[in-house]
Amino acid sequence: MASERIRFDIITLFPQIFPGYLGESLLAKAIERDLVHVHVHNLRDWSREKHHKVDAPPYGGGPGMLIQVEPVVECVEAVRELDTDPGELILLSPQGQTLRQRVVSQLANQTRLILLCGRYEGFDQRIVDILQPREISLGDFILNGGEVAAMAIVDSAIRLIPGVLGDERSYAEDSFTDEATLEFPQYTRPREYRGRTVPDVLLSGNHQEIAAWRAAQRQQRTAERRRDLL
Ligand SMILES: C[S@@+](CC[C@H](N)C(=O)[O-])C[C@H]1O[C@@H](n2cnc3c(N)ncnc32)[C@H](O)[C@@H]1O
Repeated sequence: MASERIRFDIITLFPQIFPGYLGESLLAKAIERDLVHVHVHNLRDWSREKHHKVDAPPYGGGPGMLIQVEPVVECVEAVRELDTDPGELILLSPQGQTLRQRVVSQLANQTRLILLCGRYEGFDQRIVDILQPREISLGDFILNGGEVAAMAIVDSAIRLIPGVLGDERSYAEDSFTDEATLEFPQYTRPREYRGRTVPDVLLSGNHQEIAAWRAAQRQQRTAERRRDLL
């Protein structure tokens, strides 16, 4: 069961990415209803340098810049102190554990998550060694920064907080919720469009038959598209 309320602290070099996303749809409503708290922190505020830089070239050479250890460690320590609940620190990284529904459920059980977003060529290794975060990846591809991955965690976790979705059954029926199958096909009005009609069983009013049809469709769809899940 997910927490009744989650506090997210997002540490980023680009805080302006977030307001639009936080102000829309389910997430905006969840924030308004006090089920979700989101605090965005600018990592540059912990820079020790005059122009608020937090990156430097890698020792040993190579392209790009790395995020330095001091601002990140000091920022995380300060952000942790903003609440009595220390929360779990998540570092967004392509080298982390892949985000799956099972991982989302674990994260949604927490009452506080601190999400650390990288940029450039990533982080100085000592950040991981010192802070020992849980590293999470959105998948086997490289993003420009961790912000989209942080949003994916927030977006997927809040769905599991009781009261965020209008009808809790939407979550129960979603793909992956049972860890094994994709959702069955769904239809809404009109009943017929360009010769394609809604399957009769869905109009039958027979709940048992509808449930059996949906269960069979789940299996068939998963076998066709994601045999690896079965
Ligand atoms: C360009 S990436 C750095 C990639 C790094 N040089 C490597 O090869 O592992 C910059 C930042 O984007 C974020 N990022 C990139 N791909 C990601 C993914 N698949 N999942 C989560 N975060 C990702 C991380 O925070 C990372 O530090």
